[in-house]
Amino acid sequence: MSESNGSEGRRFPAPQELAASANVGPDVYERAEADRLAFWEEAARRLTWTQDWDQVLDWSNPPFAKWFVGGKLNVAYNCLDRHVEAGHGDQVAYHWEGEPGDTRTLTYAQLTEEVCKAANALIELGVQAGDRVAIYMPMIPETIVAMLACARIGAVHMVVFGGFSADALASRITDAGAVVVVTADGGYRRGAPSALKPAVDDALTRTEGVRNVLVVKRTEQDVEWTEGRDLWWHDVVDRQSPQHTAESFDAEHPLYIMYTSGTTAKPKGILHTSGGYLTQVAYTHWATFDLKPDSDVYWTAADVGWVTGHSYIVYGPLANRATSVVYEGTPETPHRGRWFELIEKYRVSILYTAPTVIRTFMKWGEDIPAGFDLTSLRVLGSVGEPINPEAWLWYHQNIGGGRCPVVDTWWQTETGAHMITPLPGVTDLKPGSAQTPFPGISAKVVDDEGNELGDDSTGLLVLTAPWPSMLRTIWGDDDRYVDTYWSRFGKEVYFAGDGAKKDADGDVWLLGRVDDVMNVSGHRISTTEVESSLVAHPAVAEAAVVGASDPTTGQGIVAFVILRGSAQDSGEDLVQQLRTHVSKDIGPIAKPRQIMVVQELPKTRSGKIMRRLLRDVAENRELGDVTTLTDDSVMNLIKEKLPASSSSEG
Ligand code: WT7
Repeated sequence: MSESNGSEGRRFPAPQELAASANVGPDVYERAEADRLAFWEEAARRLTWTQDWDQVLDWSNPPFAKWFVGGKLNVAYNCLDRHVEAGHGDQVAYHWEGEPGDTRTLTYAQLTEEVCKAANALIELGVQAGDRVAIYMPMIPETIVAMLACARIGAVHMVVFGGFSADALASRITDAGAVVVVTADGGYRRGAPSALKPAVDDALTRTEGVRNVLVVKRTEQDVEWTEGRDLWWHDVVDRQSPQHTAESFDAEHPLYIMYTSGTTAKPKGILHTSGGYLTQVAYTHWATFDLKPDSDVYWTAADVGWVTGHSYIVYGPLANRATSVVYEGTPETPHRGRWFELIEKYRVSILYTAPTVIRTFMKWGEDIPAGFDLTSLRVLGSVGEPINPEAWLWYHQNIGGGRCPVVDTWWQTETGAHMITPLPGVTDLKPGSAQTPFPGISAKVVDDEGNELGDDSTGLLVLTAPWPSMLRTIWGDDDRYVDTYWSRFGKEVYFAGDGAKKDADGDVWLLGRVDDVMNVSGHRISTTEVESSLVAHPAVAEAAVVGASDPTTGQGIVAFVILRGSAQDSGEDLVQQLRTHVSKDIGPIAKPRQIMVVQELPKTRSGKIMRRLLRDVAENRELGDVTTLTDDSVMNLIKEKLPASSSSEG
């Protein structure tokens, strides 16, 4: 989507006033270049450590990195207590807004107390440092409290997005070996309560090892109750002492696991640790958004169930003593101006969101943002997929009033924090490009053999030096960690899975995934995962899934299925059933946009499905090269089916 414009496009220089008082200036690149480790060491000094490190980086056993070796700290203390101790207890940490319009304000002092109580509650439930705690929650303050309570006692949290199914939850609980689940009766989405507890009950029939379920009351929906296992959050947490002394943990102590889709059906548990992770999320949050803790109101409009929420709703902002907005619901509820109303109400000055949302706002029209006072905004951010220049310009003009830099931040669940992004007080912005590796980050574009490419060329994105917030492994599977990320070009080169172009100025343009991973509304979904879900349905013999470009969601999921003999005539109803089946199996975000029933799938002589051709069909393009197909009449068969294809929208 971002191949247009290149270096000929318009430039937007950093606003003078912003540049003059920016947290970081142009010299930051030279400093980092001169001594990368000293640069990260200085970033780490922004945190409070109880014991100094002996070594900044241990890379003696690549790709297994250790950062700030020997250093000790407590992540929750860094996010909470130290700000209270420094006299900022009354500063608002979160302005929380529920979808129905109810609100809660939590100061740093109040949040610290809540986290201490929750930490004491987890200890009472027998949770120890290193134990895993699953969190399956709506966007309410207790979600953040639960995460920080885990961090405080050294337990490893594993947040599962509330939109995922019971199956997805069960497999993650099993893989992580969680002993406690924190959930809620439900949350509000699109104007109605949406239940969560039934999915937990269902998941726990299929997994062992969970001793307790801690349930927050949010929607007051009826819940099934398993005596002895289920406990109300308010019964257990509210009566705890608000005092808890944070213990220090090793810099490499595990902080959390976050599952993400890969190229096989089994999601990968990405493991992040403490010192390096907090160093880079805090530093990037401060530099990329030019965060000023005393005056900014910061809003990452994303779900805390994704890495964006972990790094830029919870850990980065709190480590920097930011005042943040958290919103529970969807942008169109109860009306399409809801986000703008929130920006006006809380005087939000920094907004961070995904291109898919911007394109949705574009569709709804510029009159909606024009109806609100958005003059408090000063920096805008984008994340999750390439932002097409048109959406960038619309965002800049209609939300940013033409005055706010838009920073397009490229990173991944695996990288933990920003890796390629402009800096708002430094960079001349090019709409649609993530532009520059962050200071201290070595990102390169290489060809298939791993040779570095010069300017004006297209290839694969790699990271050629370790970084503090990098994933440390895939939970329980070191081999898969090495295979997935560090085998294509050797053990010291991280293969990101994205295509990238360097323009004539050396600026980086991201071109989307090069593997079988789709990006739907900024969420990663594996084609294989959707295919396995489809073939698990009794009516389906074979399935192939591709991501077809979609004007709003970036990519849309298009499935081609071959039915089993007995199901041949089931038609439209069956297609609907299959879409619902995938949605229930994986989660609504994985629901195919379109399912086409076909007689055969195009395969190479070695039996590999030619997704490229299916993508051509799904995007209504002329077919590309079919010479490696076993039987090119297959494609004609598929194309013939198209006008009368069993497809559906919505
Ligand atoms: C994949 C990572 C980073 C948090 C949200 C997604 C794509 C992400 C950008 C961007 C172009 C982007 C990449 C990447 N991506 N940000 N600014 N420009 N592409 O995290 O689920 O781990 O997905 O999202 O393809 O590999 P994720």
